[in-house]
Amino acid sequence: MWKPAQRIKHAYPDGGWPSAAAAASARWFSPLAIGPVQLRRRTWVPAMVPWRASDDGVVTSDVLDWYGRFADGRPGGLVVEATGIRDVPSGPLLRIGDDRFVPGLRTLAETIARRSAGETRALIQLIDFLAIRRRPEPGKYFERFLVITDRHREALGTRDDHEVRRQLAALDENRLREVLTAREFESLLHGWRERVTDMQAPHIRDLPARLPGLFADAARRAETAGFAGVELHYAHAYTMASFLSRLNDRDDGYGGSTSGRARLPLEVFSAVRAAVGPGFAVGCRFLAEECIDGGSTIDDAVAYAVLFAAAGMDFLSLSRGGKFEDALVPKIGWAAYPYTGPSGHECMPTVLSDARGPFGRNVEAATAIRAAVRAAGYTTPVIVTGGICSFAQAESILAAGAADAVGAARQTLADPDWFIKVELGRGAEVRRCKFTNYCEALDQHHRQVTCQLWDREQLDGPAVVLAADGRRRLTAPKWR
Ligand SMILES: Cc1cc2nc3c(=O)[nH]c(=O)nc-3n(C[C@H](O)[C@H](O)[C@H](O)COP(=O)(O)O)c2cc1C
Ligand code: SF4
Repeated sequence: MWKPAQRIKHAYPDGGWPSAAAAASARWFSPLAIGPVQLRRRTWVPAMVPWRASDDGVVTSDVLDWYGRFADGRPGGLVVEATGIRDVPSGPLLRIGDDRFVPGLRTLAETIARRSAGETRALIQLIDFLAIRRRPEPGKYFERFLVITDRHREALGTRDDHEVRRQLAALDENRLREVLTAREFESLLHGWRERVTDMQAPHIRDLPARLPGLFADAARRAETAGFAGVELHYAHAYTMASFLSRLNDRDDGYGGSTSGRARLPLEVFSAVRAAVGPGFAVGCRFLAEECIDGGSTIDDAVAYAVLFAAAGMDFLSLSRGGKFEDALVPKIGWAAYPYTGPSGHECMPTVLSDARGPFGRNVEAATAIRAAVRAAGYTTPVIVTGGICSFAQAESILAAGAADAVGAARQTLADPDWFIKVELGRGAEVRRCKFTNYCEALDQHHRQVTCQLWDREQLDGPAVVLAADGRRRLTAPKWR
């Protein structure tokens, strides 16, 4: 992962844990309505992919254990990982692109309800992503993948394509930068990646026609499976975030201006809303800032938030960064990963950070976004996440009106019981996240995600399920 130049080691936010009596009157433990759905608490677990579905994208017992363990801690809202809306193979990522996925997802929704004694409302994040290929071995790239054009022939002074390929394979990096287009050079160095602006490709041009239906069908399945709502994934490096990006210059009315960029996300929302009942929550997760050169800023996010609120979204969950555009060069044979560059650090900052530090990095943006939504006359709840790992942080965010609910991903992975511990006045027992991103590195390598603070504990305990490598337990040990 990219590391900031300064690499300052920041102190973990002070616990300042409340007594049980103080927690009882805390804002964080008070109820919140997200549209038609009542959350018992303003505590929120944002989506985290654990790489535990079957290779067919079906819910497994490991998936049930992962979410069941989070439900033990009884957060107000629990968002199930990014779940693919298309019926295409995607490795061990959950899928919802066909009715055959519904029975497994129903068991998942039931598990969350049972393990939380009905106190946690389960939502599921719906994702669409475009194709990406692994970084090729250069010889193969020139031999097989690169389409030879007149640009190459002219630069190398030959019309013999076999000779063009041979010469390209022998060029140094500087010369390659001159001879190849920027896109071809990127495909060589990072692996080929599809973009929403590839208008020459019919399936990309047709995304605005296809996606509303795909998202709507997926949301209908989520409702049938018993989820309380869906979170439309409009964040990070994926299709819908790419439509919202300032880099989206599509000329078909779905890019360019702010309203053009927001058009498909709004059409997807309308289709989803129309496909589900009035008691089902529909919101989205989007970026408060893209944190890349030329990318969307807080001003864009403010505009999108007001448009989404005006359209009737039930909640707005904020993340930041996590883009392909500044991802590090992957090893040959690996695919680029959107959380390896500076924008990845914005999304999941580590304890070794810049002067701003990793804690509550998205709060300032959330404050501006929520204020704009309120000023426009909407009460749509805003959820903020990013480096939040203490009661004091969460409580001050709510007190300041920066957000309506406060999420914690890695802290909840480190200690799924932490919400309950704090609520019971036993905050001193919280296992505190170290923000070292051991978990994120596992995610990056598509390995089952666990936490370094507990995955070697009590490995031989009863009913402990181990990761595929046989060396790590898959869920946190029981607290009580
Ligand atoms: C292992 C892992 C998987 C993640 N998967 C998702 C995901 O599926 N969807 C998403 O929107 N964010 C995902 N995230 C980002 C988190 O939801 C969250 O925004 C980020 O970790 C910052 O919050 P934190 O500081 O509380 O961890 C993931 C994070 C981690 C660590
Ligand atoms: S592995 Fe590290 S960063 Fe991830 S949850 Fe555990 S302590 Fe936090």
